[in-house]
Amino acid sequence: MQTILTGIRSNSVLTLGNYLGALLPMVRLANKHSESYNINIFVPDLHSIISDVDGDLRENIIRTIKYYLAVGLKVNENVHIYRQSYVPAHSELCWILNCVATMGETSRMIQYKEKSKGQESCNVGIFDYPILMAADILLYDATYVPIGEDQFQHIELTRNLAMRFNNRFGEIFTVPAKTSEQIKFMGVSDGIRIRDLLNPEKKMSKSTKAENSKIMLDDEPAKAAKKIMSATTDSLGKIKFDMFNQPGVSNLLQIEALVNDAPLQDVISVWAGETRYGELKKKVAESVSGMLTDFQAKLAGISDEQVYELLENGEKYSNEVAGAKLLEVQKAFHLR
Ligand code: TRP
Repeated sequence: MQTILTGIRSNSVLTLGNYLGALLPMVRLANKHSESYNINIFVPDLHSIISDVDGDLRENIIRTIKYYLAVGLKVNENVHIYRQSYVPAHSELCWILNCVATMGETSRMIQYKEKSKGQESCNVGIFDYPILMAADILLYDATYVPIGEDQFQHIELTRNLAMRFNNRFGEIFTVPAKTSEQIKFMGVSDGIRIRDLLNPEKKMSKSTKAENSKIMLDDEPAKAAKKIMSATTDSLGKIKFDMFNQPGVSNLLQIEALVNDAPLQDVISVWAGETRYGELKKKVAESVSGMLTDFQAKLAGISDEQVYELLENGEKYSNEVAGAKLLEVQKAFHLR
């Protein structure tokens, strides 16, 4: 059975962008394939500590897992939920892969370049982050790794490391699918990227200071509706999906489609040519506040005990699978 694997960092409460761009597509994919694939959903908590964490990391981790359940993840015996730091093989394989990867290829990672800004005070974890991510993936022979477009470069790096390793030692790792195949498998034209409500050229981000730029998943639904009503649009006066020239309006159309699980094309044609941005905002505000009301109620209904039970099973499974793979790698290097 092939494996689909994904993780989402849980450094804080997540945004509507994380919900629509990551959680929701992942849950839909998992529910569609969980009869015929292993579905590994893990919390990369060791990746969290490369930067500041809002609040308590342990609480954030539990909340993130509840998010998946509240979005509607159906758990069967093929679905495995675990925390990275509870499976020591991740860090161990990371070290070994450090000795396979080159400074050159790791230094080229865009996220590292952006986050480090060339500063010597940047922690080594930020640099090494993609290698740990490669370990996360390769330990489980994952073929599909549904993630946002900002992570595609890390998948390519993972593929290169796996191929280099296999060339040297034989077929130990499954090489994950190419980015183009990942996109096809996810069934999206390219990564979904929900925009900042005030500056729609940018991605919606929890680290943006302005409150009205972002919708947090714990926002009061009425407050979220107000944020949509105050979203930046443009002065062209015609509703059209055009991310380049009309990113604000296009973002609203995108949100409307995703929240209602409607094809984007359908939403676009309903609104095409309309001139009243206020009407569109009102509709999207209703959709988003309805979704949040429903989501928050579901979230409140999930207990910590439920999560710990899933983790216990998931971590037993992941330690077995990852431990066996690590042993193969250790043998290849004559460490065992
Ligand atoms: N790097 C991912 C992010 O920041 C999180 C992550 C870590 C991940 N390891 C992974 C995602 C392995 C998929 C597979 O969003």
